[in-house]
Amino acid sequence: MTARISVDADRPIGRISPRMYGSFVEHMGRCVYTGIFEPDHPTADANGLRQDVMELVRELGVTTVRYPGGNFVSNYRWEDGVGPIQDRPRRLELAWHTTEPNTFGTDQFMTWCDQAGIEPMLAINLGTRGETDAVNLLDYVNGQADTQYANLRRTNGHEDPYNVRMWCLGNEMDGPWQVGHKNAEDYAYLALSTARAMHMVDQDLELVACGSAAWEMPTFGDWERTILDLAYDEVDYISLHRYVDPDAQDRASFLAAGVDLDRFIDGVIATADAVGAKHRSNKKIMVSVDEWNVWRLGAWNSIEHGFAPDDWPEAAPRIEDVYTGADALVVGGLLISLLRHADRVKAASMAQLVNVIAPIMTEKGGRAWRQTTFHPFAIASRIARGQAYDAVVASPVAGTERYGEIDAVDAVVTWDEETGTGSLLALNRSLTDAVDVTAALGALGVSRVKAAQIIAPDDLDAVNTADDPDRVHPVPHEVTLADGVLATTLPPASWLAVELA
Ligand code: AHR
Repeated sequence: MTARISVDADRPIGRISPRMYGSFVEHMGRCVYTGIFEPDHPTADANGLRQDVMELVRELGVTTVRYPGGNFVSNYRWEDGVGPIQDRPRRLELAWHTTEPNTFGTDQFMTWCDQAGIEPMLAINLGTRGETDAVNLLDYVNGQADTQYANLRRTNGHEDPYNVRMWCLGNEMDGPWQVGHKNAEDYAYLALSTARAMHMVDQDLELVACGSAAWEMPTFGDWERTILDLAYDEVDYISLHRYVDPDAQDRASFLAAGVDLDRFIDGVIATADAVGAKHRSNKKIMVSVDEWNVWRLGAWNSIEHGFAPDDWPEAAPRIEDVYTGADALVVGGLLISLLRHADRVKAASMAQLVNVIAPIMTEKGGRAWRQTTFHPFAIASRIARGQAYDAVVASPVAGTERYGEIDAVDAVVTWDEETGTGSLLALNRSLTDAVDVTAALGALGVSRVKAAQIIAPDDLDAVNTADDPDRVHPVPHEVTLADGVLATTLPPASWLAVELA
């Protein structure tokens, strides 16, 4: 079987935002505690930050991190997490039924970001709080004047403002599971008035309104329209969250998860643009895919309802999915889908970073290792920069229960004129057939292949563990380039990343 890829070098999709390679740290399970922060760990620095995890985070190539939630944020008092650690209150954490010790908070997160070279993206609590607390937090984080909260930050040892640019106006406010869940009208008014208040402090903030928690939400579409109809002029982004459950579908459909993500993103853009047209606005709302990943949601939902009412454990494991070879391919496919929307998806956060549905796993007091899903993300973040180009694929088809027949090969091409480097990312979604692929890339200026790596698991169910951390990993792959035409063979169920120059 053969597939041909062509690219219109004169028509890039759009510039890939560095924020495309974001991640997410929530006070949930062991993401913070025994994940990025563990003062007693042998590798911890003076701030309690695990340096073994820090090294993996750097290798992963994460650019931005959204914090502190997630569902957690909707009942969070940010003041609990600043100041002397011994004075911080312990609280019931409602979203995940744990005890929150508050020994980690905003200043420590900023220190961690600084060390990691990561841009922080903060979420504010619009579940149980509102405008006043949002402005107070903004003043604590960015304030330069002689005010209570800017001075509190200074007293806590942080003289300079952090200058955080991107702020999420709540989290998944459409979800009935959310503390302080609201209907679209109520959230729209709160998001608007909070955004106005924050803009009175700083007009240049980039604000993200909550879109739908999932494509399947019954309010999807109406929710986005209602929020944007009211808040269009005050927000810059609308979010969407996409989790793909391998257990909820046949494997062929699972490998084709990018089809659904494409539809979801296209639907959000169409809705946003319809509102923009109604308002005769010159402004375009961008999309922040601020949670996306593979998540065995069904398994979690059956546990969620089983918490003992009196059991409020601290840093208890929550949704520590162990990722397979197939999951790595899907993460690679979702990245292709995100990059294909580089003109409008200007921020994306793989959820989450450590332990909780995460590319990095840790043992308390022990080892840290890369899950299978670490690899496609790390490769794409390193090589897929600059402009994204639509890879037009003439492909054989693969059959799926969910989508019928789809193109077996899905691909995206990137090229960075500044560095003279680029990439071809391609996923073979056929479970049975190898595909010989050619890609005409000469018009982009491609003259050589720097490297090519493939993830082609011999067992799609294989996983990486602390004892066998490299069971699934990328390997070099043979690719030729002659007269600007790249040629290679994609084995069934494989994800290829070619680094071009
Ligand atoms: O990432 C796990 C959870 O998924 C987040 O807290 C929430 O926003 C989403 O439902």
